[in-house]
Amino acid sequence: MNRSFRIAPSLLSADFARLGEEVRAVEAAGADLIHFDVMDNHYVPNLTIGPMVCQAIRPHVSIPIDVHLMVRPVDRLAADFAKAGANLITFHPEASDHVDRTLQLIRDSGCRAGLVFNPATPLHYLDHVMHRLDIILLMSVNPGFGGQRFIDATLEKLKAVRARIDAHVAAGGQPIWLEVDGGIKVENIAQVAAAGADTFVAGSAVFGAPDPAGGYVGVMGQLRAALAARQAPPAA
Ligand code: DX5
Ligand code: ZN
Repeated sequence: MNRSFRIAPSLLSADFARLGEEVRAVEAAGADLIHFDVMDNHYVPNLTIGPMVCQAIRPHVSIPIDVHLMVRPVDRLAADFAKAGANLITFHPEASDHVDRTLQLIRDSGCRAGLVFNPATPLHYLDHVMHRLDIILLMSVNPGFGGQRFIDATLEKLKAVRARIDAHVAAGGQPIWLEVDGGIKVENIAQVAAAGADTFVAGSAVFGAPDPAGGYVGVMGQLRAALAARQAPPAA
């Protein structure tokens, strides 16, 4: 097992009627983070869960809760999620009028902070805030739904961000995780790791894992095995 790689099951594909059980089960299966997708029906065409649900699942797990905000505006909800027990909070830069302020607000609330890039969102949002980031999340699908196909162009974008992170760390900057979200499966996770990702969101792959193949424990083992063949990127 290579702990430099992190796997973050996305609750979007969990059974919402049994969320407490579901988060306990994926932690027991070896999840490193709980990925918590927040959609507002404005920024993305879907509506999911808010701070009250985060607060409700918090006592059920000891691993960090990784809140992915697909909402506009961002600041109020970011603060609410920090109070509700979130550990990492990421948001889409084009959804905030004041990206630098939002990043500061998240860190000041005691959480790690990050930016999320849609498949067509340019990386220039990174230019002046690298020092304020703990994590960069690249979407490998268009946000809004689980179970979509991985967009191959993400691999080149991952390489570009990996190079930026490595240069930042080499110049004395803090470490920054590189997370990828959408269409991650046992079949492609090694290739995605080779492109530079160190943190992998997997929704339908984990929560849709068939029982005969070992359920959550089985698929987490397969994802780890696929990653084990890879050396973790230096900045991980
Ligand atoms: C999509 C969400 C993802 C989603 C991934 O907007 O941000 O976290 O749950 O689901 P899969 O792994 O099924 O593509
Ligand atoms: Zn997500």
